[in-house]
Amino acid sequence: MENLDASLDASRKNYLLNRDSYESRRLIEQHHVWVKNQGYRVHPTIEATLPPNARIADIATGTGIWTLDLSHSTKDTHPSWTFDGFDISSAQFPSQDSVPSNVHLHIADVKRPFPAEFHGQFDMIHARLLLLAMDSMDWILVVNNMKTLLKPGGWIQWAEIDLEPMHTALRDKLGASTEYLQKGCDKLWELCRHRLSGACKNLFNAFKGAGLNDVVLDPVTSDRLPELREISTKVEMRVVLGVGKQAIQNGAEAAWSLEELEYVVAQMEKEAENGAYVVFYIKTVIGRKS
Ligand SMILES: C[S@@+](CC[C@H](N)C(=O)[O-])C[C@H]1O[C@@H](n2cnc3c(N)ncnc32)[C@H](O)[C@@H]1O
Repeated sequence: MENLDASLDASRKNYLLNRDSYESRRLIEQHHVWVKNQGYRVHPTIEATLPPNARIADIATGTGIWTLDLSHSTKDTHPSWTFDGFDISSAQFPSQDSVPSNVHLHIADVKRPFPAEFHGQFDMIHARLLLLAMDSMDWILVVNNMKTLLKPGGWIQWAEIDLEPMHTALRDKLGASTEYLQKGCDKLWELCRHRLSGACKNLFNAFKGAGLNDVVLDPVTSDRLPELREISTKVEMRVVLGVGKQAIQNGAEAAWSLEELEYVVAQMEKEAENGAYVVFYIKTVIGRKS
């Protein structure tokens, strides 16, 4: 037991963001921006196959916002759907009394086999934004672990940010400065390169490698809906603050000082308010167990 706790603890630390209330608020805001940008909570191809009593899991659930929002938005259309959220840490879970009765939250490390009671139980697995905890060798292991949770014919839907082909500050309003937003983009890449590089290719290949069928990539850019550009930029650039603070704590060589970090983040917020924004890809992959 002591060994298991120590190894869970090591996995929790192997993550490049913190889990404070600022980060929880950011995750909740980010959820609403992403869902609008993607145009769905559940990919339409998957939704069309889910039974009236579907059991749905959210892996690396964080604050549980995806399950809570889906439970709320389907309470009239799919009142018998049930949800299980799993995360390596319960630090961002909402209090038990604020969670609806069809949502259950559990502690689990996605890089280890899930408890047998959950095997073969789910019609759909959802995952999103796990990449800051993933090394290149983890993707196939994690997809295979998720697959054990699925019933035959069940689906995985996994969405990640792809900063590799494009992570760029642009101006909308004529004359708007993009200097600090670009600095933030570059710093994020510098601090997290080992996790960000190749992540979405690894994700797609892991779906194929795990033998999932009907694998489809659904890419959108973060500026697809012009009305979301400012909020999307603010939410994503707040990652610079979280990762930057964690980097200071970890003694990373490339870390800015706290003073510089806070100054740059404040300037980024101003630039976003004055008509500049950041663009990147959101890539969702779906695939089905035979
Ligand atoms: C950026 S948050 C995303 C949370 C949520 N998926 C969302 O989109 O709002 C990443 C989450 O992954 C969790 N995580 C990191 N490593 C994990 C692991 N090995 N197993 C399960 N969860 C993990 C973190 O604790 C955190 O809650």
